[in-house]
Amino acid sequence: MQRVFSGVQPSGDFHLGNYIGAFRQWVADQESHEAFYCVVDLHALTEEIDPAYLRQKTFEAARNLLAVGLDPEVSTIFVQSQVPEHPRLTWLLECTATMGELRRMTQFKAKGEGRGQEGVRVGVFAYPVLMAADILLYQANRVPVGDDQRQHLELARELAQRFNNRYGELFVVPEAAVPAVGARVMDLQHPGRKMSKSVESPLGTIAMLDDPGEIERKVKKAVTDTDGEMRYTPEEKPGLANLLALLAVATGRKPDEVANHYTRYGDLKRDLAEALVEMLRPVRERAAALGAEPGRVEEVLRAGAERAHSIASVTYARAAEAVGLLG
Ligand code: TYM
Repeated sequence: MQRVFSGVQPSGDFHLGNYIGAFRQWVADQESHEAFYCVVDLHALTEEIDPAYLRQKTFEAARNLLAVGLDPEVSTIFVQSQVPEHPRLTWLLECTATMGELRRMTQFKAKGEGRGQEGVRVGVFAYPVLMAADILLYQANRVPVGDDQRQHLELARELAQRFNNRYGELFVVPEAAVPAVGARVMDLQHPGRKMSKSVESPLGTIAMLDDPGEIERKVKKAVTDTDGEMRYTPEEKPGLANLLALLAVATGRKPDEVANHYTRYGDLKRDLAEALVEMLRPVRERAAALGAEPGRVEEVLRAGAERAHSIASVTYARAAEAVGLLG
């Protein structure tokens, strides 16, 4: 059976972008692959984060992964820092990667903007290498992610190939799996930028566990344009295109088909709000049910870390031996 691996940061509330760009694929892939899904708490340390908040969000993230429909009987769900091979393999890969290739990462460049790179943490710079280690430790064939992670996946492939060329065939070279529609869900208030966990745009971000009233309010207030023409043209009409893509995903159609179906933005927004409420209803219900039994999440994470460690420790030991460490 082929392996799938993916991860999510516990740095804020999960949102519609995470759900559509990533989690839906994760749930589908667990049926056909041996699946490993990771709450990447070490990645969350690259930005300032309160320790108690991180602890709480890590636990909540794991609970919400169960709520989206991941089945711990078939998927391994775990927390990155509980498997010590992640930082250990990162070091070996950092000694494989170059400054030049990390400097080219758009996320690093974006973080450097404004404050200058002098003040950017080394963790932000090295972050894509940790991500490569996450994936390569599990010999994953497939990595379901949103569009913003494509470049990081390219780096993971490159590092795997370079390591294999130098030390022998150790790593599977992973492939990114990016959905055709919904790979880049945009902020509802600022359709030029992607929806994100940062709290800067509460009205532009639909949290995965928002209640129906909030979803409706945010969709109603979503920024579109004034010409009123119903067309799916992301470059020209980013706000409208985002709404069309969301309704397409939520109802299993193509964005163009959805556009042909409507003449008025108001009708589109009404149906979109309803479709999103329905799509997220089971997630909200499962999250509420799991809230009543925290012991279950703890148990899933304990078993997940054990299983993940049993795979990661074998890969790491082989890599360490290959580079000449005594082990
Ligand atoms: P993170 O936590 O930012 O996001 C988790 C997943 O959600 C996707 N995503 C989106 N998709 C569509 N539209 C959006 N607006 C949107 N925002 C986020 C992301 O593409 C991602 O798939 N570095 C990663 C986490 C990570 C990882 C890994 C992923 C660490 N190690 C190994 C895959 C494999 C991140 O920060 O994702």
